[in-house]
This record gives sequence, structure tokens and C-alpha cells, in this order.
Amino acid sequence: MGQNGNGSAGIAVYITQRNETALKKAGELNDLLTRSRYEGKMHFGRNLDAITRLVAYFDKEFGEHLRLEEEVIYPYLEKHVPKSRSPLAFLRGEHADFRSRLGEIKSCAARLGKQKTDSERSLIFEMLQNTGVYLVYWTRNHLHAENESVYKMIDNQLLPEEKRELSREVTTYAESLAKRN
Ligand SMILES: [Fe+2]
Repeated sequence: MGQNGNGSAGIAVYITQRNETALKKAGELNDLLTRSRYEGKMHFGRNLDAITRLVAYFDKEFGEHLRLEEEVIYPYLEKHVPKSRSPLAFLRGEHADFRSRLGEIKSCAARLGKQKTDSERSLIFEMLQNTGVYLVYWTRNHLHAENESVYKMIDNQLLPEEKRELSREVTTYAESLAKRN
């Protein structure tokens, strides 16, 4: 996505920062999941705590970014660029998939705290690890697909004044989120 002084710089900066953080967290989650597989029971509690912290990021901060897209960016594009509707419907479906997988991980993590036997624990932990790896790939693929569709459309299909308007809406939304946090 270009930052060519045409009014969309606000969105470009916001999305670039969002993507960098999300990719970094996805990388950390990936490393942690790999490590936890090899360490097994050894550092089980510590690894689970670290995974839980990363899942909290995806649940809260990243979840807020998904809502920003669903509530501000996607509706704006749907209104101003009719041909965006079908790719956006697909991306909304991906967001729903992401939330449901994240819900699975949270429920695995909650169940892990209550399991009594080692074999039950390893089984649930394996489910959590598999879903975690799925989320890592989801994040990489989704952000890439979005850059190639949504953010290219913003650059290429919106008029300069529309870019400025959308940019203001994104900034207002992001500021209202920052105030709430
Ligand atoms: Fe998205």
C-alpha cells in the first residue's frame, strides 16, 4: 500500500503498524508452539502462560482491528466501490473463522487448567497447538490477501476526497479505541 500523499496516509500508517505487530506476534506464537512441542511436560506451565498472553493479544488488540475493518473500512468500500463487495464478503467470513478458532484455543486453555491426568492434558494441549499453528498461518495469509485486495482498492479506486474522508473515520475510530483502553 502506498503512502503517496493522496490522503490515505493515515490508513496506510495505521494498517502498516497493525500488520507489523500482528506478524511479530504470530511469529512469537509460532516459535512458542514449536518449542512447547519439544519441551513437552518440562515447561508446560510456563509455555501455557506465554501462549495465553499471546492469545489475549489476538483476542483484544487484534480483535479491535478486525472490528475497525468490519465497522469502518469495509462498509466504506462497499458503499463507494461496488465491486469490492464479493472480496469483502470473503474477508468477513475469514474474520468469523478466526474468531471461532480463537474461541477453540481459549476453551482448550481453560480446560487445561482443570485436567487431572497427563494423557488428557497432552491431548488437549495438542488440540491447542494445532489450532494455534492454524492461527499463525491464518494471520499471515489474511493480512497478505487484505493488502492485495482491500488496501489496493483504497489506493486505486477511491477518489482523493474519499481517501481523506475514510482516513478521518479510521483515525477517529482508532482514537476512540485508544481512549477506552
Ligand atoms: Fe481483516
